[in-house]
Amino acid sequence: MKIINKYDHYIMPFYMPAEFVVKKAKGSHVWDTDGNKFIDLTAGIAVTSLGHSNSELNSIVSKQTKNLWHLSNLYINEPSVRLANRLCKNTFGDKVFFSNSGAEAIEAAVKTARKYSTKKFHSKKNEIVSFTTSFHGRTLMGITLAHSKALDDGFGPLPKGIKSHEYNSTIDLEKVVSDNTSAIILEVVQWQSGITSASTKFIAGLKKLAKKHNALIIIDEVQSGVGRTGSLFAYEQFKIKPDIVCFAKGIANGLPLGGIITTDEVSSFMAPGLHGSTFGGNPIACAVGEKVIDIISKKSFLNRVKKKEELFLDLLKDINNNLNVFSEVKSKGLWLSVTFSKDSNIQVDELIAKSHQNGLMILKANIDTVRFSPSLIIEDVLIRKSMFIFEKTLTQIQSL
Ligand SMILES: Cc1ncc(COP(=O)(O)O)c(C=O)c1O
Repeated sequence: MKIINKYDHYIMPFYMPAEFVVKKAKGSHVWDTDGNKFIDLTAGIAVTSLGHSNSELNSIVSKQTKNLWHLSNLYINEPSVRLANRLCKNTFGDKVFFSNSGAEAIEAAVKTARKYSTKKFHSKKNEIVSFTTSFHGRTLMGITLAHSKALDDGFGPLPKGIKSHEYNSTIDLEKVVSDNTSAIILEVVQWQSGITSASTKFIAGLKKLAKKHNALIIIDEVQSGVGRTGSLFAYEQFKIKPDIVCFAKGIANGLPLGGIITTDEVSSFMAPGLHGSTFGGNPIACAVGEKVIDIISKKSFLNRVKKKEELFLDLLKDINNNLNVFSEVKSKGLWLSVTFSKDSNIQVDELIAKSHQNGLMILKANIDTVRFSPSLIIEDVLIRKSMFIFEKTLTQIQSL
């Protein structure tokens, strides 16, 4: 049986993978089992920010595997403490919890917030306010926070105490935030509706209500964090101080690692036995995380991310001058989205499949929008090449 047929036979049908099988990847290139080469503008969905099979990170993995793979959280491992130290030094935070994934980070954030507000204030202060077009992972809590039929249909009963409001709208916001609100959770940059930043007015409105009602602010930086938007965490570019930040994806360049950063005050209501994880804080993943943070937190590195964003934007402008098919291009750092106009005739699924045939990997954001989240060190020459292929593919589709 061919591997693609075996995939369909043995793997549960949650994904619709591309029609090729990946053999290896290096930097911003991927090769399939037939020897075809691709430029990767996905980076494992905003994960391999320092490129595939990064040599510096490879040697850290190889050294750490010789020392210690796993011990559980019954024992202290050095890389996890060193990484927590770096995360606190570079952010608002005092304390870190490590999980394996983004969804588990959200779970830890909600549990931490509810414990804090119900113990510090009153037992009914357990409501969480979240926003439309958000994404917070696939656990029952994650899909409840997203308020999306597409995500939660058939999976109920869902956790209680979650209130929804329209993203970037301050109209009636005061009706969902009250003295019973434990926390407000948001992505300061969302991706589901194309790369969309929170407006100044929205952030100001949230802050005011959070302060009035002693509600915590949880920022989901699972995808926006670790340099993706041109700052170590995206919240730094908004006038907001979080109480809890959730991170994952880029932190260990592809090894499973996530977690939350919070303050001493919020963390002080948690105690041994109230939360935990077998694998969270794995020493190999944390050893890689240390290096990732050291590299990405440098100003010069983050400035290069912004320069590369400008290059993408210039090239996309040129493409649209030639083809006139985009209705909107949005970006925050090396996180870009392109929405196609209604009369462009561009179908996103077809575009992605044809891009693969031309040697380019891109992501879908939604029905009329594609997304790029390349490695943060993608070479300028590959940005130019990828946009050349993107334009060529659009032209091919138009001429069909
Ligand atoms: C903003 C955001 N939050 C949470 C998650 C869930 O992360 P994970 O897939 O690691 O559970 C994702 C995943 O795409 C995400 O983009």
